[in-house]
Order: sequence, then C-alpha cells, then structure tokens
Amino acid sequence: MTPESATVEWVAVAPLAELQRRKKKQVEVAGRAIALFLVGDRVFAFDDTCVHKGRSLSRGSLWKGKVVCPGHQWTFDPETGRADDQDDCQPVHDVLVVDGVVHVDPRPRQIS
Ligand code: FES
Repeated sequence: MTPESATVEWVAVAPLAELQRRKKKQVEVAGRAIALFLVGDRVFAFDDTCVHKGRSLSRGSLWKGKVVCPGHQWTFDPETGRADDQDDCQPVHDVLVVDGVVHVDPRPRQIS
C-alpha cells in the first residue's frame, strides 16, 4: 500500500531514521499535536495531549512496550491507546511508513 492508494489523506511527518535514533518525536498534523513512538520496529501515533490532565505524551517514555505519560505515569497501549487500569483511552492514529518516511492519518482511529 502506498500513501496514495487509500482514501486516507496520509501526511508525511518525519524520517523513520530520526525515530530510530530518538524513539519519540512530537509532530503537528493538520493543527493537531501528535506524539510518535518507535516501539520495537513499529511506529505508533497518539494525540499528544494526554486524556487525563493534558500533559504532553511526547515528553513521556517507553516502558515494557507501553507509552508512559510524564504527568501521572498512566501507561498506554500503543496499538489501542487504552490506559492500563483506567477507563480513558488516548486517541491513536494509523501510521504508514513508505520509503523511510513516516506518514500519519490526521483522523484518530475509532477504537471499538
Ligand atoms: S496527564 Fe497524563 S497521566 Fe495525568
């Protein structure tokens, strides 16, 4: 699949090599702050503003494959955005890597 092949209007946001060096990065997509994380060999994208009290997830860390918010250490599943032991869910975005460039769907994924 290429960015042009889907109805999604993918937005190129960062070189994959940069994430491979730093593991995380904040980008802006359609006026929305997005936090990128490299977990293993996959890139995940979250809304950067934490659903709990609004801290920046891109200032957080990775722990055992989960994203840890720097505010109150909630841990989020990178695939679903679900917070461990909480009812809240962080909006996540689909990611596509093409030719070493990370692309993000500006619309949050609907989690059922
Ligand atoms: S602001 Fe993210 S856990 Fe509280």
